[in-house]
Amino acid sequence: MSNASANLQAYRASLLHFHADPASHPDAHAWHADGLLVVEDGRVKAAGDHDALVGTLPPGTPLIDYRGKIITPGFIDTHLHFPQTDMIASPAPGLLPWLETYTFPTERQFMDPVHARATAEFFLDELLRNGTTTALVYCTVHKESADAFFEASAARNLRMAGGKVLMDRHCPDFLRDSPDMRDSEDLIKRWHNKGRALYAITPRFAPTSTESQLGATGELAKAYPDTFIQTHVSENKDEVAWVGELFPHQRSYLHVYDHYGLMRPRAMFGHCIWLDDTDFARMAETGSAIAHCPTSNLFLGSGLFDMAKADSFRALVSLGTDVGAGTSFSMLQTMNEAYKVARLKGSYLPALRMFYLATLGAARSMQLEGTIGNFVPGAEADFIVLDPKATPLLARRTANSDTLEETLFALALLGDDRAVCATYAAGQRVHQREAASH
Ligand code: GUN
Ligand code: ZN
Repeated sequence: MSNASANLQAYRASLLHFHADPASHPDAHAWHADGLLVVEDGRVKAAGDHDALVGTLPPGTPLIDYRGKIITPGFIDTHLHFPQTDMIASPAPGLLPWLETYTFPTERQFMDPVHARATAEFFLDELLRNGTTTALVYCTVHKESADAFFEASAARNLRMAGGKVLMDRHCPDFLRDSPDMRDSEDLIKRWHNKGRALYAITPRFAPTSTESQLGATGELAKAYPDTFIQTHVSENKDEVAWVGELFPHQRSYLHVYDHYGLMRPRAMFGHCIWLDDTDFARMAETGSAIAHCPTSNLFLGSGLFDMAKADSFRALVSLGTDVGAGTSFSMLQTMNEAYKVARLKGSYLPALRMFYLATLGAARSMQLEGTIGNFVPGAEADFIVLDPKATPLLARRTANSDTLEETLFALALLGDDRAVCATYAAGQRVHQREAASH
């Protein structure tokens, strides 16, 4: 090649990404202290040491110099609710009163497509400010809310998954759906695999679906096997007891979903705090995945997820913010709380593992490895530029980091949206932080 392709672009920074799980592979990560990421036509062309790669670039290739910063794959948030953006940080004594008091009235507003679109725009921009380039998102029961979400996502060319909520009992009349899957099927046809959009069949949780709706949901999931499924399970003790009363013949709460054919690859189960060993084994056997949502679990007092136990069953685990029960859009803050939850359960979560969970681990949980989550050639160029000196305190702490692990740990414990200098989706910059005023 003699001339740079118009769509070729290089980025110089430290590079971090993963090709395996650091919990089970000692050399799971790639770290290039002086690295180069080469992007062509929105995809990764190469990632490696600057000195080894720079000579391969055609003359005139534009190069953005981010030295002093760390480029990682964009974060992937595997559980959150876009319509709950405006009610984040609403106090209530536990899950069920929180749903009644705040969630259902807030979600009612999404019958209005104008409101839905405006909220979706804000929500996606907030994700990008926080370095999240892919998310698995609950909309509301209204199909307009899913259209608004996917339209706003397409306008930014983002790799986003989401779906309209299914809920046909134990909810206010104004949010009640029917067992009829027509809206969900229409949305699958309209959005799934259209551009970068992915559809998620979204039964809210077992208490708000009739057996008839769960059955129809399982049929739909079978008819469209590469769609996602997302729901909540075993989040809160009162909820678990309620499911026991509603489904007395099922062995466990998770088994309700299993019974209706909702455990399979690309099924994502939020929370999973009160699972038993048989449940964890089913997670692994069926290729289903767990979204651990620590800020939400601490906020609502739901309980402490047992990551070490999930690992012992080799279950797929990733991290979710669970906004609006979660208290932050930041995956760095989500790591901070995941670390503390692990300590309270008597285990230890290294920073490298947390960055894996938020990138390649989540991509694997969603069966999107090779598409997003790391910098293998051909992957979509969704990446973020992290600043280990983003705040005075981070600068002071990371100045005396002896290891990569210490620097990443400081970013996870002390960082938030201020640590995200820039966010790129399919090679285009979709967020740039304004100059810090500190
Ligand atoms: N269980 C059922 N619906 C919800 C929800 O919106 N948020 C949380 N955290 N749990 C739920
Ligand atoms: Zn949730």
